[in-house]
Amino acid sequence: MSVGQIILTSVTKRFGDTVAVDNVSLQIEGGEFFSLLGPSGCGKSTTLRIIGGFEYPTLGEVFINGELMAGTPPYRRPINTVFQNYALFPHKTVAQNIAFGLQMQKIRKPEISDAVEHSLDLIQLLGYNDRKPSELSGGEKQRVALARALINEPTILLLDEPLSALDLKLRKQMQLELKALQRKVGITFVYVTHDQGEALALSDRIAVMNDGKILQVGTPAEIYDLPQNRFVADFIGTSNFLEGTLISENEIMLTTEPPLKIASTPNDDIPLNTPVTVAVRPERIDLGMTPTSDDVNCLRGVIQDESYLGTTLQYTVQTDYPRPLVVHQQNTGGANEYRFQRGDTAYLQWNPENAIVLENYED
Ligand SMILES: Nc1ncnc2c1ncn2[C@@H]1O[C@H](COP(=O)(O)OP(=O)(O)OP(=O)(O)O)[C@@H](O)[C@H]1O
Ligand SMILES: [Mg+2]
Repeated sequence: MSVGQIILTSVTKRFGDTVAVDNVSLQIEGGEFFSLLGPSGCGKSTTLRIIGGFEYPTLGEVFINGELMAGTPPYRRPINTVFQNYALFPHKTVAQNIAFGLQMQKIRKPEISDAVEHSLDLIQLLGYNDRKPSELSGGEKQRVALARALINEPTILLLDEPLSALDLKLRKQMQLELKALQRKVGITFVYVTHDQGEALALSDRIAVMNDGKILQVGTPAEIYDLPQNRFVADFIGTSNFLEGTLISENEIMLTTEPPLKIASTPNDDIPLNTPVTVAVRPERIDLGMTPTSDDVNCLRGVIQDESYLGTTLQYTVQTDYPRPLVVHQQNTGGANEYRFQRGDTAYLQWNPENAIVLENYED
């Protein structure tokens, strides 16, 4: 057992008729940066509040550092929480805000001021001791809230959308700081967000939730490159979805007229002749002016639309498949780069390993 480990076994939480958390089992290791990601109302905050002891599960159990938490109140858990609205005391200074948790424990003054200095150093706000929260920027307030939550040296920090009040640029900067801070203190962070980019950038592992259930747990690369179902493939990034029938372990017959055969990542979990969905990321599709020599994964299409996204060029292409496909090409700006125009004929190609066969997720 690692210090800072969290285990949930078949946890369900009901509020009246609402099932906020539905049979969730999860193991988070000590020192992990672990995110709960999903749309509004999917049960992220409730799961976090159950870990923190602010809610008790209707069914199932929570273990922290190997100990069963049945009935253990929040202040008896080795955990602190940072909420979205920071909730700093407006009339206390930065130093007093940070020191609060230690003062409650009757720790000696010199020790408290050492700890406060160490915290200010950690959040890069040395010298800000006497400022009031009203004299701080949003990002600085957020950092003070973090310092205040870390001063008791919890083994686990819970963070519920802590950056959502910040504007985009500051949020990106704080994401980097937060990740660096977590590496420095080395404790478990459980981070709630509905922002997939944030979860990908920060996390060691992510749990994707919908309707109170965990649909997939994995590293950012696993979640992005090998989504297990359509919800995950759609919620994280963009995907083209092609419907068809699995005709061999790694071949799909698409529902087109005439039927088109494509190759995919081998998947022997799904029985043959089952209707499946294949997901292909827009940036994994290559646009060419000529077809490949073998006709595997090569669809002929006509460019319907072109948009300039900055780092990429986005094309919408109509093929024999009923729905148009979205394709992203790197905008290298090279002199030899051909920019397709509306009405051009183009050939869409991809490697079989970039065509992911998905279970159809039933809700
Ligand atoms: N105290 C409560 N009483 C009744 N229903 C609740 C309570 N807390 C949460 N719920 C319901 O449980 C479900 C999950 O809520 P939760 O707050 O965990 O979602 P969330 O994923 O954090 O959403 P958001 O991204 O909007 O914060 C929602 O349907 C919500 O309305
Ligand atoms: Mg929430």
